[in-house]
Amino acid sequence: MGHLTRKYIMILPIVAYGDNILKKKSEEIPVGTPLQELIADMYETMYNAHGIGLAAPQIGKSIRLFITDGSVLEDEPELKDFKKVFINPVILEETGEFWAMEEGCLSIPNIRESVSRQENVRIRYYDENWNLHEETYSGMAARIIQHEYDHIEGILFIDYLSPLKKRLLKAKLENISKGIVNVDYRMRFPKASKARV
Ligand code: NI
Repeated sequence: MGHLTRKYIMILPIVAYGDNILKKKSEEIPVGTPLQELIADMYETMYNAHGIGLAAPQIGKSIRLFITDGSVLEDEPELKDFKKVFINPVILEETGEFWAMEEGCLSIPNIRESVSRQENVRIRYYDENWNLHEETYSGMAARIIQHEYDHIEGILFIDYLSPLKKRLLKAKLENISKGIVNVDYRMRFPKASKARV
């Protein structure tokens, strides 16, 4: 081929709870690495699953990259421009009060639990054009960043739950890892038996 190398945008399977990649600290990306196609695929994948954030480990890549788009949250007008790509992000500081909110995760469908996080986050990151930024976010934008940043550190929101809560969720989580879950987007289940696939 060669003369026409247009790549199609792909919806990628989202890695489900139980896959070790979700528990791994992701690798730094060499500055200047072309990521446009991967980022386009991640946006397509996130929109298809009605997410507002997606981190690279969730599509099976253990690299320090996550994307957000909060513009779909109609009751959060201040997020209408919060469509951003964060590459090699570093959280510099978290400040303010802890506040609780129910969170969910595309890798852990149908489970929502209250998580406490600090109000403000100061972050340094590269954007999709490899320009370096240092910015402060608050409220819901900060929360999305904290949740996605956790993914590239190998942390899931359920890791913050009490031992009791975790015990109550154990069977449900085990089922998710096996693919026994009602979900309307493509996923990759680490413990799905061959017979079911
Ligand atoms: Ni998540």
